[in-house]
Amino acid sequence: MLNIVIFGAPGSGKGTQSERIVEKYGIDHISTGDVLRAEIKAGTELGCMAKKLIDNGQLIPDALMLDILSAKLDTLVGSKGVIFDGFPRTIAQAEALKEMLAAREQEVTAMIELDVPEEELMTRLIKRGQESGRADDNEVTIKKRLVVYHDQTAPLKEWYEKEGKRCYINGLGELDRIFADIVAAIDARI
Ligand code: AP5
Ligand code: MG
Repeated sequence: MLNIVIFGAPGSGKGTQSERIVEKYGIDHISTGDVLRAEIKAGTELGCMAKKLIDNGQLIPDALMLDILSAKLDTLVGSKGVIFDGFPRTIAQAEALKEMLAAREQEVTAMIELDVPEEELMTRLIKRGQESGRADDNEVTIKKRLVVYHDQTAPLKEWYEKEGKRCYINGLGELDRIFADIVAAIDARI
């Protein structure tokens, strides 16, 4: 089983590179952001709650996020592994993921960290906001998302370093070069 955590700030390319990883390795993709946006679109109670937080750049509480993730994992049958995109985002989520996988006699194979300068993140997300209309891609909310990332999510770099799972990738530049670096990092661990 190949379990990859794709990690990085908002706009670092997690979703973009996940698509390629899924295609190459035939694993399942769980994007917690996509799951939440689907709930918002469907107008569920969870969606209404998530919308308020997402539009304000804040995280959904850990306990709720863990329920969502474990339900999602349970739907996968005959899976060759998972790419976790946008999860974990807090130390508590990382610890819970480790336990959840251990209960299935699995572990995280690699944490792929996409490093992109803040100026570039802002440029990418403003552009996507204009093209796709994603509600949290506006300057005010992007700034809040970046603050939350630095405060609550960035400490996971050290956490995964200690776990011996962290693979640093320069996430600035050509998509093909970034993907090749990711593949090299994954292949070195399988
Ligand atoms: P989520 O959907 O995970 O958003 P995010 O982390 O802010 O990241 P993005 O999806 O915006 O960016 P990405 O890294 O996927 O980049 P992408 O490939 O799209 O989460 C949204 C919200 O949901 C959170 O704020 C939170 O409220 C909530 N949430 C989600 N998970 C949660 C959790 N675990 N716990 C609590 N709350 C949670 O690329 C961005 C753009 O750049 C695209 O337009 C792309 O085409 C372009 N691009 C990509 N790569 C390159 C490149 N190399 N060069 C130029 N452009 C590029
Ligand atoms: Mg994404």
